Amino acid sequence: AYVVAEPCIKCKYTDCVEVCPVNCFYEGANFLVIHPDECIDCGACEPVCPTKAIYPETELPDKWKEYKTLNAELSSKWPNLAEKLAELPEADEFKDKKDKRGMLEM
Ligand code: SF4
Ligand code: F3S
Repeated sequence: AYVVAEPCIKCKYTDCVEVCPVNCFYEGANFLVIHPDECIDCGACEPVCPTKAIYPETELPDKWKEYKTLNAELSSKWPNLAEKLAELPEADEFKDKKDKRGMLEM
């Protein structure tokens, strides 16, 4: 499955949602996750994310390995999101910020 990693936090541009053929994105307050059992590995979402937050799980950078578990856990708790929304108001400000893990609202 594909995994949403840290760069999405406080941005949530949702371009990924618009292209996903199986609607397997789930929405938290300031982050989105992919349901690992629903993702069909089509790869459509990866190039459209403005923050480059999305990776195939096999290519997830070591520093973001935790996000595989986070996507699995949070996708079973959060509501499905099937349509593109406006990005968060602070998205452009936080797009290139590092170390956003502590800002993840669960
Ligand atoms: Fe959806 Fe394809 Fe991305 Fe999986 S890889 S989340 S199926 S767009
Ligand atoms: Fe997040 Fe990128 Fe989608 S910022 S909401 S993973 S387009």
